Amino acid sequence: MLPAPISTVAPSLATGRPISWGVVATGSIAQRVVEDLALLEDAVLQAVSSRSEASARTFAEKFGFAAAYSDVGETLGYERLLADPAVEVVYVATPHAQHYAVALAALKAGKHVLCEKPLAMDAVQARELADLARDKGLFLMEAVWTRFLPSFCRALEILRSGEIGEPRWLQANLGFVPAYDPKARIWDPAAGGGALLDLAIYPLTWALGVFGEPGSMLASGVITPEGVDLQNSLALSYPSGAYAQVITSIGAECPSVVTVGGSEGWLRSSAPLFNPAELTIQPRSGTLRTEKFEASGHGFIYELREVTRCLQAGLTQSPFMTPEESVGTMELLDEARRQMGLRYPSDPQTPIAADHLADTPAPHTALRA
Ligand SMILES: NC(=O)c1ccc[n+]([C@@H]2O[C@H](COP(=O)([O-])OP(=O)(O)OC[C@H]3O[C@@H](n4cnc5c(N)ncnc54)[C@H](OP(=O)(O)O)[C@@H]3O)[C@@H](O)[C@H]2O)c1
Repeated sequence: MLPAPISTVAPSLATGRPISWGVVATGSIAQRVVEDLALLEDAVLQAVSSRSEASARTFAEKFGFAAAYSDVGETLGYERLLADPAVEVVYVATPHAQHYAVALAALKAGKHVLCEKPLAMDAVQARELADLARDKGLFLMEAVWTRFLPSFCRALEILRSGEIGEPRWLQANLGFVPAYDPKARIWDPAAGGGALLDLAIYPLTWALGVFGEPGSMLASGVITPEGVDLQNSLALSYPSGAYAQVITSIGAECPSVVTVGGSEGWLRSSAPLFNPAELTIQPRSGTLRTEKFEASGHGFIYELREVTRCLQAGLTQSPFMTPEESVGTMELLDEARRQMGLRYPSDPQTPIAADHLADTPAPHTALRA
């Protein structure tokens, strides 16, 4: 089982010197994460970048960033932000397909990086980022915020305590039906769209947190005519005999909960499993009980506190969410894509082996209304 950070009771309180942030992109997650960043006593909102001047300026004014950068001629907004010497750490909130290029440029510019999930489009890219951060002595973390939530930390604590015996089985699902829009990143293969890259990291965070890296994985999925996966199922097997099933979908509404079965009882999260407000625990020889959690801010504040704490302590990685773990997750997602026959325009142009093509699911239009 993974180590879990001790959950922070008051994550907004300063833990050291001020840390100066730059934010790349002004989309929906950037807005929500910066609302939490603004709560940190020791965060300096230094700069934001956007492709558009109006978006950069509006975002900067809304949150009080000192500088706003946008594309000028051939120079991209984020390149201008990276040239700002006052920016110490960069939060990358672009679509998946731009994570690698922006994070790579940030590390090359000597900036620490917090990058939205997934860290990159594939494990080769993720490995390059992890190696570069290590070689340059810079901090790098994938923004898997669930890992730092009090509810997730408490769940691992309960499981480690033996209250439900030895964890042996886990089932986690996450799904919703976004409005179909071929230009939206979730439906766009060029943006790394689909359920796998967008959603599977959350249920996988639970499986990896409880059982660690699996010994083997069987993956299957349904792919839209445009080339993103509508839904997928990952079956993870462990040498101990433990088993985890992870299902994600952008074609069906799901309960979006995780259940862990143990030799002496079970534990279940409330929805959504990426930020549960409740844990229900049923020990075999005890009474069913529920523990409730109220996350500060939107819940992103805990990962932001962890980045801040690490930078203040001079750490180049969080012990609770390392670049190596992100590379391992990308390897799992690569393998899932290989088994599903799911390819993106950004993939190297090596053909998928014929035996995998034979397994590729037929395009499934009926499910996408
Ligand atoms: N942690 C979470 O809970 C969570 C939730 C949702 C999403 N995410 C992750 O956050 C990332 C962004 O998701 P989102 O929902 O915020 O997407 P979004 O609303 O589409 O915003 C993405 C932003 O990136 C910039 N952008 C778009 N296309 C780009 C391109 N081709 N090149 C460079 N920049 C581009 C745009 O900002 P400008 O116009 O300002 O350039 C856009 O507003 C994804 O990786 C996603 O997986 C995380």
